[in-house]
Amino acid sequence: MNPIVKLQGITKDYGQGDIIVHALRGIDITINPGDFTAMAGPSGSGKSTLLNIISGLDRPTSGTVEIENLTINTMSRTELSRLRRDRIGLIFQSYNLIPVLTALENTEYILMLKGMPVKERQDIVRELLKEVGLEGMENRFPRELSGGQQQRVAIARAIASEPALVLADEPTANVDSKTASGLLDLMERLNKEKKITFLFSTHDKNVMARADKLLWLKDGKINDYRTA
Ligand SMILES: Nc1ncnc2c1ncn2[C@@H]1O[C@H](COP(=O)(O)OP(=O)(O)OP(=O)(O)O)[C@@H](O)[C@H]1O
Ligand SMILES: [Mg+2]
Repeated sequence: MNPIVKLQGITKDYGQGDIIVHALRGIDITINPGDFTAMAGPSGSGKSTLLNIISGLDRPTSGTVEIENLTINTMSRTELSRLRRDRIGLIFQSYNLIPVLTALENTEYILMLKGMPVKERQDIVRELLKEVGLEGMENRFPRELSGGQQQRVAIARAIASEPALVLADEPTANVDSKTASGLLDLMERLNKEKKITFLFSTHDKNVMARADKLLWLKDGKINDYRTA
């Protein structure tokens, strides 16, 4: 099986001179198609840094990042954004929806960027919003939705272009535990039914327990790797 993500010897230093922060100190990880993996660890252990490096939003100081057997280290910013658009869905702690766009418009945005005709993409997006439990809320703006509902829009947006991989940085950090559990149900269903690979970071033990694999990050290193 070809891995979706292969990291080898990843380090990341921030700053210069005397005040270097060694955020990542040699990470080797393989994520395979269909994995539903959580990444946990104390605040400052490097979870967001690692997710940003996998998505190509940030570059490692050393080491190689392969996405579906393509080395992304040497890709230009344009190539990286195309790779993200086509293969990777991103979900953030604070939803990051565009406030002046409706749920439907937020979700269809990437399909629009890909040049998909309006009728086709709106049909896809209406179906997706239904799947994530937001039927009837297509025309609401983010401010008219609860945190959990906004995150459902963000999940719909992340999977709209049928990515191979979804990266989620603390997707349940801003919602109550019942809503968090519902979001996990949704992610799990998308993982099983659409075979989308998920890698998400969390501080929440209940969320960790839902993963098939758990990576434990400490001081910029993988400290423990549990397979359920
Ligand atoms: N842009 C930056 N410039 C300088 N240092 C940074 C930068 N981003 C992160 N760091 C440092 O790198 C380390 C890892 O940070 P990171 O945000 O990846 O941790 P985290 O595990 O996501 O933490 P949290 O659980 O609080 O979100 C921390 O020491 C942080 O202060
Ligand atoms: Mg973080």
